[in-house]
Amino acid sequence: STPSLLILPGDGIGPEVMQQVRRIIDWYGDKRGLKFEVSEDLVGGCAYDKHGTPLHDDTMAKAQEVDAVLLGAVGGPQYDTLDFSLKPERGLLRLRKEMDLYANLRPAQCFDALADFSSLKTDVVSGLDIMIVRELTSGVYFGEPRGVIKEGNERVGINTQRYTESEIARVARSAFELARKRGNKLCSMEKANVMESGVLWRDVVTEVHQAEYPDVELSHMYADAGAMQLTRWPKQFDVIVTDNLFGDLLSDLAAMLTGSLGMLPSASLGAPMENGRPKALYEPVHGSAPDIAGQGKANPIACILSFAMALRYSFDQGAEADRLEKAVEKVLADGVRTADLLQAEGAKPASTSEAGDAVLA
Ligand code: NAI
Ligand code: MG
Repeated sequence: STPSLLILPGDGIGPEVMQQVRRIIDWYGDKRGLKFEVSEDLVGGCAYDKHGTPLHDDTMAKAQEVDAVLLGAVGGPQYDTLDFSLKPERGLLRLRKEMDLYANLRPAQCFDALADFSSLKTDVVSGLDIMIVRELTSGVYFGEPRGVIKEGNERVGINTQRYTESEIARVARSAFELARKRGNKLCSMEKANVMESGVLWRDVVTEVHQAEYPDVELSHMYADAGAMQLTRWPKQFDVIVTDNLFGDLLSDLAAMLTGSLGMLPSASLGAPMENGRPKALYEPVHGSAPDIAGQGKANPIACILSFAMALRYSFDQGAEADRLEKAVEKVLADGVRTADLLQAEGAKPASTSEAGDAVLA
């Protein structure tokens, strides 16, 4: 049956970058016979404007049924004063939570044409292609007890790092599966030297490795040393798996090895559905960029590469994902750059749709 895709463009530059992805989806249908059943709906501020909630129940239900969700970005200054539960971000958080998207994939891939964009030396990043898998639904951001309590006459802030075996095992499996599709190498990062949850993390990853993925090369690293190694020589890694907190930090660090926010895609995957595909949400890392919204300045590449990830991880179209990533690489090599990627003074930036034109061409 035709694979289904729910598109949630969202707010700000979300609809602008998503429009370029829609053109690419149409291209795949016309030129490659790769058809998708596409539906579109609201999330974030625009959903609040229409329905009084950042994610309508019907949209939530649709997201649970489709093969993959593709999201632009949510938010904007006009929603900053809304109640916490009505804020645009809550729509995104609800999607992640109710779809139980526990594995957040953040690639850090350096396109040669942008190697000079990195804060690191060109030879350290050129050709870099690593993937960080961050556990997204548990750990210290969710563990109980939590809160600010009174102890004697001072306040105490409390959070709890808590991981169950099954939570560790399932994200480890996602990472091993990915490693098999890539360089067959996985590095697991925790702080087993000082954290009980780290000891369990290391044990469970080792058990899953021995029982199910002995063919994948597995190593372990303390997360602080991992941060050091990521900036010293990131090319030593292929896939990295880590918990929610460390993954938050390490994926942002890794992202900046490669340059602009406008280039960074992500995927969040959950348990396999009946058809074997994982529950999946694909989205650029960047936000709604209100400062440039409506001006045709947004870089559509992060959103385009998020769709490439969907082709690869939801639709088993690895070769077509390669094709799309190669097109992006070529466009950058040809010097087509949106404003966020321009360094030379006086150079004329490509608009959002011109960048889309170039990728299609
Ligand atoms: P942002 O990512 O929207 O923008 C940060 C800076 O990067 C801005 O200067 C922006 O112009 C630039 N930028 C971002 N994406 C770009 C692109 N594709 N092309 C060219 N330049 C780009 O983060 P910011 O400004 O902190 O947040 C703005 C709004 O977005 C807020 O309402 C925030 O809550 C929301 N947000 C939403 C996210 C999401 O939907 N996943 C993630 C982060 C922020
Ligand atoms: Mg972060």
